[in-house]
Amino acid sequence: MSTRPPNGDDVKSFRVTLDGIEHQLDYRPGAVLLDCMIDADLDPAFQCREGHCGTCMVLKLAGEVEMRQNNVLSRRDLELGYILLCQSIPLSDDVQVDCDA
Ligand code: FES
Repeated sequence: MSTRPPNGDDVKSFRVTLDGIEHQLDYRPGAVLLDCMIDADLDPAFQCREGHCGTCMVLKLAGEVEMRQNNVLSRRDLELGYILLCQSIPLSDDVQVDCDA
């Protein structure tokens, strides 16, 4: 059983592919992936930022995240590895997502 805190305090960075380019971004404790990408001047697709619209849906290739809220992804989406950038907090230091999938 993991004793890791649920807010991602021990996570330092994550990898993201956007428009065919892979980036390694610093992760601010408690931040969601979308905010870290915006802070890094990347331009991921998003609208509501509240887990409702699905515009920020991306494929998680590796690592663990906690989604604060999900009102749009189906069980099948989750099984396939899709997450919402605007709601996902990294829980492991090997998180990798693909915005182009
Ligand atoms: S921006 Fe709407 S669900 Fe993430």
